[in-house]
Amino acid sequence: FLHKLVLGIETSCDDTAAAVVDETGNVLGEAIHSQTEVHLKTGGIIPPVAQQLHRENIQRIVQEALSASRIFPSELSAIATTIKPGLALSLGVGLSFSLQLVDQLKKPFIPIHHMEAHALTIRLTNKVEFPFLVLLISGGHCLLALVRGVSDFLLLGKSLDIAPGDMLDKVARRLSLIRHPECSTMSGGKAVEHLAKQGNRFNFDIKPPLQRAKNCDFSFSGLQHVIDKIIMQKEKEEGIEKGQILSSAADIAAAVQHTAACHIAKRTHRAILFCKQRNLLSQSNAVLVVSGGVASNLYIRKALEIVTNATQCTLLCPPPRLCTDNGIMIAWNGIERLRAGLGILHNIEGVRYEPK
Ligand code: KG4
Ligand code: ZN
Repeated sequence: FLHKLVLGIETSCDDTAAAVVDETGNVLGEAIHSQTEVHLKTGGIIPPVAQQLHRENIQRIVQEALSASRIFPSELSAIATTIKPGLALSLGVGLSFSLQLVDQLKKPFIPIHHMEAHALTIRLTNKVEFPFLVLLISGGHCLLALVRGVSDFLLLGKSLDIAPGDMLDKVARRLSLIRHPECSTMSGGKAVEHLAKQGNRFNFDIKPPLQRAKNCDFSFSGLQHVIDKIIMQKEKEEGIEKGQILSSAADIAAAVQHTAACHIAKRTHRAILFCKQRNLLSQSNAVLVVSGGVASNLYIRKALEIVTNATQCTLLCPPPRLCTDNGIMIAWNGIERLRAGLGILHNIEGVRYEPK
């Protein structure tokens, strides 16, 4: 066989995903099962529930990805699987399934760091050389890093508390947007973006977090509490019960989205200036990659565009289906590691998953 072929398996959070990708970035087969619907109903992820759903789906999802690829499993060069970070119970399902498969097929195993996979995804869709800057913003992730090589990352900043998607999900829940006729099937972040278009952000004056901090860290829990207080106040003023939708919900959504966008843009601006001042990034054609579920927010993207335009950077985002968790990014990270000769285990003896 001419090309290297990697099977990637992802179960770190609430998606059971698998894909077969070749050396040139062709996706030969992919499959995904999302648990979002179940977790929306319970108002958040309950780890044992996520674990059970991964168990029920992993065999079928991996089989679907392999069948779609029309390859024989014996043709695989390696199996790559997310081993961290994530929910311990969820990660365990993917890892133990993969180790069985590795044993059965006698293939090399490539343990994958979930954030590395998110960061490298752009190299599957675009010709992006190292180094580049990456901003990962989702429900579980919030970090800024300089990517100098396949497994050479300089962490520039991270959230000191919760991730922006988590904050937006909590605000959306507090506003009962799931009961809003236009937003009932949307994630919290998407619901906030949708409603914000109908709202006026100037009705509230909210300070962006960490204005004085001379670093690239983030914080979203303070903002969440400010919004909580505003909602409580408005509930009193409007005389509504918990669970009903405020008439000022759209204004609140617009204000929280704007404040989060400002905060994210400012921290990213600092990171770009920091890297350029130290010649860690090219002066004239530096690249900022933005990924994660929150990267699909067009208002936040616009704010980031202002920053990249002002600093002569190119802003790149993977397509939305590759911004959220998927098997393709794991398989691609496996390809990147195979090509770089990094972290390939030919003997999985001693690789065990120990649940906490
Ligand atoms: O990457 P992802 O699917 O999963 C992880 O969290 O790892 O991201 C999901 C997060 C959720 O918090 C969701 O509310 C947020 O991304 N999100 C958005 C939008 N679409 C999804 N946040 C803001 N604007 C959106 N359009
Ligand atoms: Zn992720």
